[in-house]
Amino acid sequence: MVKCKYCGEQAYVWVSRAGGPLCRKHLIQLVEKGVEKTVRKFRMLEGVKKLGVAVSGGKDSVALLHIIHRLYGDRVRLLGITVDLGIEGLRKQFEIAVDNYRELGVPYRLVDLGVEYGFTMDQVARLSRRLRRPVCSICGVVKRYIINKVAYEEGLDAVATGHNLDDMWEFALRTLSSGRIEEFARLSLVSPRGPRMIPRIKPLGLTEEWLIEEYAKARDLRFFDGSCPYKPRNDLREALRYAASTIDEAAPGYLKICVKGFLEAAERIRPPEVKLRFCERCGMPTTRRICSFCSIREKILSLLAEENSIK
Ligand code: AMP
Ligand code: FES
Ligand code: ZN
Ligand code: ZN
Repeated sequence: MVKCKYCGEQAYVWVSRAGGPLCRKHLIQLVEKGVEKTVRKFRMLEGVKKLGVAVSGGKDSVALLHIIHRLYGDRVRLLGITVDLGIEGLRKQFEIAVDNYRELGVPYRLVDLGVEYGFTMDQVARLSRRLRRPVCSICGVVKRYIINKVAYEEGLDAVATGHNLDDMWEFALRTLSSGRIEEFARLSLVSPRGPRMIPRIKPLGLTEEWLIEEYAKARDLRFFDGSCPYKPRNDLREALRYAASTIDEAAPGYLKICVKGFLEAAERIRPPEVKLRFCERCGMPTTRRICSFCSIREKILSLLAEENSIK
């Protein structure tokens, strides 16, 4: 029997960068201590009394909710935020998010995209060619907008998301390799506050994805294990994530060093913040007259109306 290097209990997982085999208890401790360190170092919770936790129901955000609840639940008021995107194949995922809030007794807001905004991501997927934009990119706009709007309406001081180390790496490489330096410069663990713009924090941003999955399993957390039906196949993202896991196996800890370097580089080239104004339709912050959510929503609703009139 392989034993945990700290306590001699049966080992559960091998973590090279922690020096070898760990039992469940010590794996859980390693991950939680790592998150605590990231939160402290990047001052993520300074002055935060009410924190939103955006939970999709996937492993990262479910683990995030449980970690935040365990580490800070007695000091910070939590509010879960889940957006039901209206994707038939993901219905279970959003239910699981709610099950987790209930299990912990965390209050939450579940926003149903179809009911509150009149369209679903299943409809967007059907219309995506006519919208001339990939489904995932529209979905990103929708999620960011709704999460920020709920956070603003609820008077939250910040919102935590479950982005992990591999997500950070992938974003950095994808933007750099295509020369999109301005986008790369947005890489950060804490996004800036602005008028009606609530900062987003990424407490898992320096924790490896596989380790988060092991954590979720070690704690028997309930999470959704499937993936979105609209995720493009064979895309660059998958290749970069595969590279990340290979690097982490070959040189444990190096992925984290890379991402820390990227974060510093991004910080150095970050341009001064642009002045925001308020969207003429919805009043939320934007650089344009009408925010990107309202413009895309108008297009979607008009295409849906057109479809209905033809029927
Ligand atoms: P993704 O963009 O799908 O990789 O998700 C990144 C993070 O955004 C997740 O870890 C969650 O914190 C948050 N998130 C994604 N989808 C949702 C959703 N439907 N509702 C609430 N939060 C979400
Ligand atoms: Fe948004 Fe798949 S989760 S398109
Ligand atoms: Zn142990
Ligand atoms: Zn708007």
